[in-house]
Amino acid sequence: MPQYFSEDASVDAVNARMGEDVSPRLRQVMTSLITHLHGFIKDVQLTQEEWAFAVDFLTRTGQICSEQRQEFILLSDTLGVSMLVDAIGNRRPSGATENTVLGPFHVADAPRREMGVSISADGKGETCLFEGRVLDAAGNLIEGACLDVWSDNADGFYDVQQPDAQPRWNNRGRFTTGADGAYRFIGIKPVSYPIPYDGPVGKMLAALGRHPYRPAHMHFIVTAPGFQTVVTHTFVGDDPYITSDAVFGVKDTLVAPFERVNDGATAWRSPFDFVLVPS
Ligand code: BEZ
Ligand code: FE
Repeated sequence: MPQYFSEDASVDAVNARMGEDVSPRLRQVMTSLITHLHGFIKDVQLTQEEWAFAVDFLTRTGQICSEQRQEFILLSDTLGVSMLVDAIGNRRPSGATENTVLGPFHVADAPRREMGVSISADGKGETCLFEGRVLDAAGNLIEGACLDVWSDNADGFYDVQQPDAQPRWNNRGRFTTGADGAYRFIGIKPVSYPIPYDGPVGKMLAALGRHPYRPAHMHFIVTAPGFQTVVTHTFVGDDPYITSDAVFGVKDTLVAPFERVNDGATAWRSPFDFVLVPS
């Protein structure tokens, strides 16, 4: 008996079509995807109008994408998919610095800067000294680690979002540790900001009664030869959005101290050590 499509046999009807030479991993992924997708449609008894809306939503999501904008990643971020894939791909022993989302605002090849200098070029915001060490799990200092850092400005925008209003490379830089494993740079105390919400993802968040804000954070990519790359942020703990990050990026271990400094060169100081694991 040929297996025609039916409501009851829908999963088998689709999965049975797969060729014999399909790679085992693609077979596993697609078989599971069809099983869950059909299961979801049956679970919610999806209507034709709802499916047409979903197709239109995905179409609009694609149409707003450009060189400067990746709405599908924003969709993945806001549905918790980016953080889940990251968690599965970057399980680390306790004590090692955890990953979080990369986000869309990283720019490769930021200027290499001397330790201690400022990355803020627009003169806005409260100055903050970021400092700490890069270590391995045994506490050994790591020389030659690169910290690629970036944050929004005091108005809540990254330089790339305001190319006409902010100096190029504002609040960005790369620092390389010496034999003491230490890093030190002056930035601003970051502020919370909304992820781009003028597209389909913003509409989805509004429909779900969700705000688009991320709690204030400083981004870091820490690389060192022989160690796993850490893509992470440090967060300002008393931010009003710390427990409701629009992209689920907050982890306990990434909430850093932000201490007021009364007699220093900066208004704030945020100490944080990075612990790397071998690759
Ligand atoms: C960010 O932190 O830059 C970011 C992360 C995910 C989505 C939007 C922005
Ligand atoms: Fe960010």
